[in-house]
Amino acid sequence: MTESPAAATTDPAALLLKRSFAAAVRDPDRFGREFYARVFALAPAVRALFPDDLAHQREKLLRALTVVVRGLDAPESLVPTLRQLGARHVGYGVQAGHYVVVGEALVDTLDARSEQPLDPATRAAWVRLFGWIAAHMLEGAEAADGATRVANNGATAAAPGA
Ligand code: HEM
Repeated sequence: MTESPAAATTDPAALLLKRSFAAAVRDPDRFGREFYARVFALAPAVRALFPDDLAHQREKLLRALTVVVRGLDAPESLVPTLRQLGARHVGYGVQAGHYVVVGEALVDTLDARSEQPLDPATRAAWVRLFGWIAAHMLEGAEAADGATRVANNGATAAAPGA
């Protein structure tokens, strides 16, 4: 089981996350542009996974992050959504290592789009929250990937040592 962010971050950390998110996304379009620019600077090969026009993608990402931040008071209720999101990401060609890049880009964008640099407690809360999001998305991805392998290998999937 993955530890809930609330268990470790406590309520004050949830408040830091909510406040800093609201401050950083006052201009959501600019946030989205800067975020994807950072992702592609860190990992240029990832650009090819996305459509040419990123306008809708920016909106979807911001919406997903908003859902997570609003749900911080009851994080366990987010888990099924995150697992399903992670499972869909397998189909987009996303690999586990990409989550590291996206996490770094996200925290750096939050930092840059805030009026002042994130203080250490807020930054740590974001790193922890992203780790929790990624862990649940990757659980969903693994479950989806395993299901595909079983479907492809049929009876041999259960063979010892396969
Ligand atoms: C915090 C983690 C992430 C969140 C909240 C997130 C959110 C989303 C959302 C909401 C969508 C729209 C489609 C859907 O709902 O299935 C999407 C699509 C996509 N995401 Fe993510 N994502 C995350 C991590 C990643 C990572 C690590 C990558 C790797 C580069 C990635 C690449 C993509 C791609 C390629 C698409 C499909 C674009 C398209 O073909 O339209 N995402 N993501």
